[in-house]
Amino acid sequence: MPVLAIETSCDETAAAVLDPGPKILSSIVLSQDKIHAPYGGVVPELASRRHLQSIGYVVGEALRRAALTPGQIDAFAVTQGPGLIGSLLVGLSFAKGLAYYFQKPLVGIDHLEAHMEAAFLAGQPVALPALALVVSGGHTSLFLLKRRLRYRLLGRTRDDAAGEALDKIAKYLGLGYPGGPVIQKLAAAGDPEKFRFALPRMKDASLDFSFSGLKTAALRWIGETGMSRRHRALPDFLASFEAAVVRALIETLGRGAERIKPASLILCGGVARNRRLRAAFEQFAREGGCEAHLPPPEFCTDNAAMVGALALERLRASKRPRLDLDLDAYPRFILARA
Ligand code: KG4
Ligand code: ZN
Repeated sequence: MPVLAIETSCDETAAAVLDPGPKILSSIVLSQDKIHAPYGGVVPELASRRHLQSIGYVVGEALRRAALTPGQIDAFAVTQGPGLIGSLLVGLSFAKGLAYYFQKPLVGIDHLEAHMEAAFLAGQPVALPALALVVSGGHTSLFLLKRRLRYRLLGRTRDDAAGEALDKIAKYLGLGYPGGPVIQKLAAAGDPEKFRFALPRMKDASLDFSFSGLKTAALRWIGETGMSRRHRALPDFLASFEAAVVRALIETLGRGAERIKPASLILCGGVARNRRLRAAFEQFAREGGCEAHLPPPEFCTDNAAMVGALALERLRASKRPRLDLDLDAYPRFILARA
């Protein structure tokens, strides 16, 4: 019962074919990084136009590598939101067209929920309740997974997302886009203790995040030291900033874990590719005696395999999957399935 999944929420055109298991038969991700790099961030209009140009090819390639024709697909899945509305609509319309033509069910998928599903892609059982930290370019959120396919939002960022803060500082220093991987590379040889960053403190007991303070502190350091891409202390500065972002994430995860006492911890989203964050997360889980679930790096950043895996799980749980042509794209976060 193969499923074809499509993901076009931001600047990756992605398609994947999966069998139940989940077994990934193919997963294609076409990045638009080169198109947006000169602007230091994603230009929505350029993103949707490029999705339009690429989607046919990417879906065709996913099918070809899975050695299947579209008529052999049993259900179609597509990211509905949150994301860039113009980009989402390209994937959604394409998926609707396929599902309608072949008269097969169409499953609308939430992007953050799909990021969390990436933790299940390895096929290993995840002990519940689980606490999931979703760290992407647009979102930094903490969810409680009490049961399979049930999520409760415990905290979210009040301003910038962690990935956004990394991207913005990289842009300010002219280091390129996306900022996270560039910072990771340049920071590798740096001393993370060299520059001091105070961690954000919430005045209430909430599990929300905030990264605008860290970003402002970084901009102040840049001004005070004349930091630039050619500065000798650039690796130290970037290592210190990256480490501060990691500390802020793990600190809030820690407070969440104290409250929830989860059986396992999940780390996902594009920033979960970060080596420093992965190491800190694994250490935290080990010390707390929790299972740690970390998708392989290629399934942390946007991809369609996670979308297909979630669709399979949903199809398994639903009695009568439908061809819902009224599915609409949504730009902002609305997931609330508790
Ligand atoms: O989940 P994702 O692919 O797209 C969104 O849903 O936003 O996440 C993209 C984010 C970007 O902010 C990018 O800088 C960050 O993930 N990222 C990283 C790394 N690779 C990607 N951040 C830190 N270290 C990395 N290695
Ligand atoms: Zn994402």
